[in-house]
Amino acid sequence: MKLKIAALVIGATFGMTGMAHAAGQIVIKFSHVVAPDTPKGKAAEYFKKLAEERTKGKVSVQVYPNSQLYKDKEELEALQLGAVQMLAPSLAKFGPMGVKEFEAFDLPYLFDNYDEVHKVTQGAIGQQLFSKLESKGIKGLAYWDNGFKNFSSNKPIRTPADLKGTKIRIQGSKVLEEEMRTLGALPQVMAFSEVYQALQTGVVDGTELEPSNLYTSKAYEVQKQLTLTGHGYLGYAVVVNKKFWDGLPADVRTTLEGAMKDTTKYELQLAKQDSDKAIAAIKASGKTQVYTPTPAEKAAFKKTLQVVHEKMADRVGKDLLKSVEKETG
Ligand code: LMR
Repeated sequence: MKLKIAALVIGATFGMTGMAHAAGQIVIKFSHVVAPDTPKGKAAEYFKKLAEERTKGKVSVQVYPNSQLYKDKEELEALQLGAVQMLAPSLAKFGPMGVKEFEAFDLPYLFDNYDEVHKVTQGAIGQQLFSKLESKGIKGLAYWDNGFKNFSSNKPIRTPADLKGTKIRIQGSKVLEEEMRTLGALPQVMAFSEVYQALQTGVVDGTELEPSNLYTSKAYEVQKQLTLTGHGYLGYAVVVNKKFWDGLPADVRTTLEGAMKDTTKYELQLAKQDSDKAIAAIKASGKTQVYTPTPAEKAAFKKTLQVVHEKMADRVGKDLLKSVEKETG
């Protein structure tokens, strides 16, 4: 009996607190397209926790994973319209909205490792790129990693020629389209949420997904082969609606900036671990054969794909490529 009353009191108290907060509470809807147990999904939840704790409930962060609210293209439109306040789209997704420089990150073998990535994303170049989003009503807050993409298919992939005539799902980036054409593959632009079904029904034959996305979306279950080509980087920009962000009380904004900084530290550590774990889990599933190419096989992919850099230099910006090169050595 006593317990029951206590539960009612606690319930009523939380209910009232909830109502009291609801009146003046600042709500941040954070929409994303991948599973909650991905680096992005976990970091979104981590940011929610820090933001709500540190603002003492003044801010409520509502995380919507798995394209529950919007698919890739729609979520950027929703952000611009103010229907959501925060997103973390992959860098490839800013190209179609006219900020082509972000497609530089899609260039094959641009980075050899996470250290090289961070020299660009966590430094001056990353900030310069963010300034290009402002005229679109978007403000960039942080860069998060996912990892390095690999080719998957139902046929073994050992050489670039093995991709000839294969329908590969890509994100809507012109650089990725050129990458596929260079390999003789047939690029199919598609939202992330549609990939599993497209593989299952044969609309596409393969993917160039990063391990944690391949694993958590279960796409590996409908792909017999995975070759660890690591041919491209997948990363995110955490972005907010600029008007919303600029309109926040200064103290709240500073607190949220701090929460984002700490979340970014957490996310960058997590991403690599999750990638490695996903590869191990895919191997252990026995559903997909995971192949590590020899150095010579990897070099063949790199050599074939080098031409994409030259072909796309004008689109993404020659100066940007030069600065990236200088930064990464
Ligand atoms: C994809 O579309 O493959 C990725 O950008 C999805 C994501 O957000 O990780």
